[in-house]
Amino acid sequence: MSDNAQKLYYPPESLAKNAAVPGMEAYQALVKQAETDYEGYWANHARKLLDWKKPFTKVLDESNAPFFKWFDDGELNVSYNCIDRQVNNGLGDKVAIIFEADDGQVTKVTYKDLLSRVSKMANALKSVGVAKGDRVVIYLPMSIEGIVAMQACARIGATHSVVFGGFSAQSLRDRIESSSAAALITSDGQFRGGKALPLKPIADEALAMGGCESIKKVLVVKRTGTEVNMTAGRDVWLNDILAEQPETCEPEWVGAEHPLFLLYTSGSTGKPKGVQHSSGGYLLHAMLTMQYTFDIKPDDVFWCTADIGWVTGHTYIAYGPLACGATQVVFEGVPTYPDAGRFWKMIQNHKVSVFYTAPTAIRSLIKAADANEAVHPDRYDMSSLRILGSVGEPINPAAWEWYYENIGGSRCPIVDTFWQTETGGHMITPLPGATPMVPGSCTLPFPGIQAAVVDETGLEQPWGQGGILVVKRPWPSMIRTVWGDPERFKTSYYPADFQGKYYLAGDGAIRDIDTGYFTITGRIDDVLNVSGHRMGTMEIESALVAHEKVAEAAVVGRPDDTTGEAIVAFVVLKGPRPSEADAPAVIKELSAWVAKEIGPIAKPKDIRFGENLPKTRSGKIMRRLLRQLAKGEEITQDTSTLENPAILDQLKG
Ligand code: PRX
Repeated sequence: MSDNAQKLYYPPESLAKNAAVPGMEAYQALVKQAETDYEGYWANHARKLLDWKKPFTKVLDESNAPFFKWFDDGELNVSYNCIDRQVNNGLGDKVAIIFEADDGQVTKVTYKDLLSRVSKMANALKSVGVAKGDRVVIYLPMSIEGIVAMQACARIGATHSVVFGGFSAQSLRDRIESSSAAALITSDGQFRGGKALPLKPIADEALAMGGCESIKKVLVVKRTGTEVNMTAGRDVWLNDILAEQPETCEPEWVGAEHPLFLLYTSGSTGKPKGVQHSSGGYLLHAMLTMQYTFDIKPDDVFWCTADIGWVTGHTYIAYGPLACGATQVVFEGVPTYPDAGRFWKMIQNHKVSVFYTAPTAIRSLIKAADANEAVHPDRYDMSSLRILGSVGEPINPAAWEWYYENIGGSRCPIVDTFWQTETGGHMITPLPGATPMVPGSCTLPFPGIQAAVVDETGLEQPWGQGGILVVKRPWPSMIRTVWGDPERFKTSYYPADFQGKYYLAGDGAIRDIDTGYFTITGRIDDVLNVSGHRMGTMEIESALVAHEKVAEAAVVGRPDDTTGEAIVAFVVLKGPRPSEADAPAVIKELSAWVAKEIGPIAKPKDIRFGENLPKTRSGKIMRRLLRQLAKGEEITQDTSTLENPAILDQLKG
């Protein structure tokens, strides 16, 4: 045992006894199965968990690595697997979705209702000419319609690309252009925190920018009732055309590799990449992780607080819970409206038993509870909870412990799930009835996932020594390619450094010297994680330099108590460096500009101006220095290679 041996938290026996993976022996047995017969392990699960129209005979096809295929000759339909089969299995009257609107109004949708709504939406899409293989961009708030639209695309074999409702016109335009989508589904607006915010006007702006000529129809959901412009021949009110649609729609059977969706995410260079996911392998992992990580049971009420605009909202709202026939809460609003007790009140009211949220939300709710006893979780009855989850960023031990004690009543395991847009589902995570937990560690790989920590040459690191996180074997729910850019897929995820053998996650990790548990140490590329949202520093820099006043910009992250990381921008203006009196106005202008170019989530928290940026004599920006400056640290390192050391004083902030 090392001196710094960590305290372990054990799953309660009552939970472990009935869990899908009941204890570490059961976990090890699964790991062993997967090691002994990798393809057999995944094939067994795929046969057991999914309904196939045409059974697969091939499991993993590595002939065109790293473009792996899983279950390639099998045929299925994802929407059928999520909805029809629940109805066929007698769950038609079970509530699939408990939707709570921003204003608190609750709507319940049964599996039978969902089948009819999805079928109508699928028919509506067909009626406007959307066909199998087309891309459909979905720009909707958290809503029943959002899930229905995703499922409807899956039903007809169209590939959806959901764009988060907080993204700007420019971001929406870029994603439409990149995917050359045939149709766009949006709404007049969205309610958040008691306010009606526009969506359709932003979509109009995006479509007017050029590059979106592929869009033939815009289907508009009426949500806020705000007046919007409707372009004749192009824009249609969904509510109108849905009314005319038949309530049944035969699912389109597709090959297991058929692209279910694209989801754009930030990388270290260039524009966001369209991560392409499959149908069969993706859904398999969505279901398997619902069962093993969340131990989902027929009478559970599951609530994942993510937005459908992110991958978490895909796998653990739109697909996983439905494929398991679960009841889930879907929430339109924000955790702080009408007050910061909203989440706890909803857990109480809907008797949520499995709750999945992000560390950022937890940290901000801790602050709120500390400041105002009225919104403290101990004011609410949350005895229905049995499992808690965390996702999107590292959870700091203090937040973990607060979550464990105050939300979980010290009886609910916390599954700290490490995964990514590219991985489709959980990769490294505790299993609630098996894994002893350590706050801040995502513990051990999901059974069947072969994660490792290696050095730059691909050599596995001994426990206790940090390195690069990789996955050694392809897995069913992995990214298939970067849409329209297979080369970028290869260089980003299967770099030559590891002879193209290992999937590169882009994160650093270290394994505990005693337990072998993984702790994620953060991104090793220029990707930031702000409130669990992933952003490329280059993207923000490009947005800044697109402003007429900006000559040069460099963006770095700095640790932040609430948002995990915060964006700090160092900017050189074309004109003189602004005086202290003038700076606030320019900062405001640039912030608003970034929000308009990318979305409010990309706004820098701190903008500093210099006459130049710290560069080496060869002109390379010294980002390491900028990171230190951003943190307010004294610069102790050698700055003799710096072309212009005086700049450092200007950028101190
Ligand atoms: O850095 C890791 C961090 O989030 C990145 C993936 O971001 P995204 O594709 O947006 O997906 C987020 C939701 C799955 C990872 O590369 N990350 C995600 N989960 C964790 C995490 N870091 C530490 N612990 C986690 N549990």
